[in-house]
Amino acid sequence: MPYDLAQAVGFSLPEREVAWNKRDLLTYAVGVGAKKDDFAYIYELDPKFSALPTYPVVLAFKGAEQDVNLFASRAKGIVQVPGIPPMDPNKMLHGSQSVEVLKKLPLVSGPGWKWTSRYTGVSENKTGIVITMENMLIDPNGVPYARLYSSTFNLGAKANGTSFTKVIANAPAAKAAPKNRAPDWMIKDQTSPEQAILFRLSGDYNPLHIDPSIGHAAGFGGVILHGLSTYGFVARGLIKAITNNDPDALTLFGVRFTSPVKPGDALETHAWEVGPGPNGTTEISFITKNVTTGKLSLGSGIAYIKKSEKGKL
Ligand SMILES: *[C@@H]1O[C@H](CO)[C@@H](O)[C@H](O)[C@H]1NC(C)=O
Ligand SMILES: *[C@@H]1O[C@H](CO)[C@@H](O)[C@H](O)[C@H]1NC(C)=O
Ligand SMILES: *[C@@H]1O[C@H](CO)[C@@H](O)[C@H](O)[C@H]1NC(C)=O
Ligand SMILES: *[C@@H]1O[C@H](CO)[C@@H](O)[C@H](O)[C@H]1NC(C)=O
Repeated sequence: MPYDLAQAVGFSLPEREVAWNKRDLLTYAVGVGAKKDDFAYIYELDPKFSALPTYPVVLAFKGAEQDVNLFASRAKGIVQVPGIPPMDPNKMLHGSQSVEVLKKLPLVSGPGWKWTSRYTGVSENKTGIVITMENMLIDPNGVPYARLYSSTFNLGAKANGTSFTKVIANAPAAKAAPKNRAPDWMIKDQTSPEQAILFRLSGDYNPLHIDPSIGHAAGFGGVILHGLSTYGFVARGLIKAITNNDPDALTLFGVRFTSPVKPGDALETHAWEVGPGPNGTTEISFITKNVTTGKLSLGSGIAYIKKSEKGKL
């Protein structure tokens, strides 16, 4: 049966309610490896206590719940999206993620915050179907606080079997990292063997990240770390290196997930200043590697960051 993928583009899912509190912000900070002196993220009594600017990325999983939610039950009750063939949730890979900060998040949401989801891109090729989604985080008065794009690559999914692409909105593309000069910043970091156990407390309870037998069956050789944990590690590291740890300096952060990271892996991020960004920011291109294997974990990184004096070259 043929599917007309173009029909999905522009389709919106029903809005969902989302909510968070200070404890959620603290939990997220340790899930992305915040250090003992990162007081603005780990200590609610610090005068600069703030959400890490990448926090909204976890709301898609967390919703408004405080308790554990069952990953498997999420697949049920999913809305039928026009033009989209059935897809195997076990063959769904997180391809890319971005977040654009429109306004600083309050420390406690209170009720009435909404999460909107709109299909803004669909592509098919021989190996599967890529879906791009735009999410907005909106306060009870209708004011947007964050705009996010994420893409999932659905391995083996098939509509017509012909090559197709339609994209009406997406995150800004990263500029290629300069090949002719050394990175302006090199940031080393270390995930812990328990990293996924901490990060899942922010709302993604997929057993793949805690039960080694599932990761073995899926061909990953054991537990893999949530891509969004690595994502937060790198954002936090760039903020510290470039801005003297200013929680308000980062306004855009986007990556492609290129290969999994395992809890315990050491990471190294190479970042280059590539020009001015919007609104007085600096545009940064970056990649992140597994230190030991040299394998690329995150590629096509883009960030807009307001540099502070201390972070200058
Ligand atoms: C798929 O096939 C249907 C029916 O022939 C057609 O309407 C549609 O345009 C095709 N879509 C793509 C993406 O090729
Ligand atoms: C299909 O698209 C995916 C995701 O963008 C890409 O990784 C893959 O290389 C593409 N495959 C082919 C055969 O073009
Ligand atoms: C990263 O490097 C370590 C050390 O060699 C290795 O054990 C681990 O499997 C690598 N991670 C991935 C996801 O390849
Ligand atoms: C720059 O800041 C203004 C005012 O805050 C905002 O309206 C605009 O969208 C921003 N531009 C970009 C490209 O972020």
